[in-house]
Amino acid sequence: MNNQQTQKDRYHIHRFPEVDSTMRVAKDMALAGCPDWTVIVADRQTGGRGRMDRQWQSDRGGLYFTIVRRPPVRPTEGFKYTFIAAFVLADLLRTICNIDAGLKWPNDILVDKKKLSGMLSAMQASQNRIDFLNIGIGLNVNNTLSHAAPDAIALQEIAGTPFSRQDVLTRFLDRLQDNSYDTMPPAEAINRWKQYAIGIHHTPVRVVTLRETVQGIAEDVDNTGALVVRLHDGTRRRISVGDCFI
Ligand code: BTN
Repeated sequence: MNNQQTQKDRYHIHRFPEVDSTMRVAKDMALAGCPDWTVIVADRQTGGRGRMDRQWQSDRGGLYFTIVRRPPVRPTEGFKYTFIAAFVLADLLRTICNIDAGLKWPNDILVDKKKLSGMLSAMQASQNRIDFLNIGIGLNVNNTLSHAAPDAIALQEIAGTPFSRQDVLTRFLDRLQDNSYDTMPPAEAINRWKQYAIGIHHTPVRVVTLRETVQGIAEDVDNTGALVVRLHDGTRRRISVGDCFI
């Protein structure tokens, strides 16, 4: 393991050649008391986790990391951090690669309808305070994607040139450490997220939740981060956890 802490930044990076999942390592470290802004990075994951119990293909060349946060906000506000991470990363990718990165609810980053990055979060909290909130991000950078994932794309493929994963990571963390995010009201975080959103305004969608599949017209993302879908009978459904297919 190679630990690296920059002088000017608050983050503490722990880099591993291989782990099962940076989410598992981050949780263990959080339970053991690691500081806020601990970042676990792996060159490769043998059991990379995706949302909704899926796997996340994690071959060498991709960027796989989990940030441990102990933010000074109530647990009900915790959801804003993944939305913040998503718009910060989308904006960074637009800047460094000059690509039209968009956000698909909840936190996928797409380019040309193909998935470039995915995020998931795990929180442990008591009634009034967050013990830890771990945000895991997978970004396809220089990795070769399998034919089994035709809807995925990597930065290298888009730009025709490899990228430094270290550079992308540190630039992302530098931007994410903006102090205003801890005090940003969730509604403002959602509004910032919406500036990059794809498929939330009057878009036909199919949303798969852990219990059911819902079809209708996506109308909005509300201030709790839930997708609002108008069903064919005219009623509206708020969906907090699910996969959205446009
Ligand atoms: C998704 O879109 O389904 C979310 C994918 C999240 C993948 C990242 S890779 C780093 C971190 N460790 C994991 O096991 N998963 C997340």
